[in-house]
Amino acid sequence: MGKQSYKKGLEGVIAAESKICRINGEKGKLYFRGYSIEELVEHCTYEEITYLLLYGMLPKKPELEDFSSRIRSFRSLPEQIRQMIHEFPSGAHPMELLQSVMSYLSSYVSHKIQHSIYCNCRDTLHQISQMTTVAATFARFREGKKYVPPRDDLSHGANFLYMLHDREPDPIEGDIMDKCFILHVEHGFNASTFTSRVVASTMSTCYCSISAAMGALYGFLHGGANERVLEMIEEIGDKKNVKDWIDKSLKEKRKVMGMGHRVYKAKDPRAKVIEKYLYQLSEKYNNFYYYEILKEIEDVFGDRMKDKGKLIYPNVDFFSGAVYRLLGIKPILFTPIFASARIAGWLAHILEQREDNRIFRPRSLYTGPEETPFVQIDKR
Ligand code: ACO
Repeated sequence: MGKQSYKKGLEGVIAAESKICRINGEKGKLYFRGYSIEELVEHCTYEEITYLLLYGMLPKKPELEDFSSRIRSFRSLPEQIRQMIHEFPSGAHPMELLQSVMSYLSSYVSHKIQHSIYCNCRDTLHQISQMTTVAATFARFREGKKYVPPRDDLSHGANFLYMLHDREPDPIEGDIMDKCFILHVEHGFNASTFTSRVVASTMSTCYCSISAAMGALYGFLHGGANERVLEMIEEIGDKKNVKDWIDKSLKEKRKVMGMGHRVYKAKDPRAKVIEKYLYQLSEKYNNFYYYEILKEIEDVFGDRMKDKGKLIYPNVDFFSGAVYRLLGIKPILFTPIFASARIAGWLAHILEQREDNRIFRPRSLYTGPEETPFVQIDKR
């Protein structure tokens, strides 16, 4: 009997129905609940998109005002969580901290964990609200600085920069940060979102489901790539070194971080938007160092791949790290920023999973030994 085939990495396998996100990989198009990412990012705030994802429709003005004021009211951290951040091992990565806080948080909120679509996480919103505060506080504590309490008169993005730097960002910076949160909020059945749905399918809590998803996002083939892109830029050092660096990497079969995507066969629409923000900030600070190296990598790597008959383009992580760097954010926070943004998307998927749940339980293709006689320990 011939070997059964299967899709490695579940490529192209449909695992569930979903009304949340549509991606047209051939054309490089992305839609949340039917609206194109380009329009959403131009006209909406992160809070508005969170409402869209959680409730399935764009909010009317009073609904958004009420939602924004609720989500902002949960931004500050209880003393116990601040203590936990303070005492977290200094060598740990903040993604591990975020995962731990997410689980710990469930005991500090007035949250009815009902394991069902009726659970009140749409009302409490702590998970979405507080992770940016955790990330900013982690960064400050590791530099021996004090906790900066959040402000409720700033957008999600502007408040994050405020808590991090203890200074109100100028409107362009706050706006770009908020839009970066939008661009990372949701993206269909990627590895972390699928993880969140698998955990939710066991009727586990949304906190456990999100914490598991964070673990999946941490890896550098997924959300961890943005931190590696910055390492790559530092290693290259100058635009003139790009060609040699790419050729050496390809020879050593190293992946170029921030390039390629399972679904997109065209440039990731999110990368196109973030590239514009990078250009805008580079002009503002008169610093084109990151922009020039990244554009050279994009061109050279694209050409090399084309020669091999492959079309590989930048993904969302390619330009985002450079934008954050120009906003004064250290690379260690890049993946936590991504995770904080994505919580709203994960939550929408967890709730959707619960609407028509069946526990995920695929099979593997067994390739181990046939039935083998047991050998007693003294005869092995
Ligand atoms: N650098 C070099 N070669 C690449 C890259 C890359 N970044 N991406 C794809 N390729 C090549 C592979 O070597 C492979 O070649 P082969 O067929 O000769 O073996 C082919 O293109 C297909 O690549 P796979 O890794 O098999 O594609 P897959 O769909 O499994 O993985 C992934 C997609 C993980 C994003 C991959 O492109 C990658 O590793 N990129 C770099 C890491 C990265 O940027 N991750 C962030 C993704 S976006 C996100 O998660 C938010």
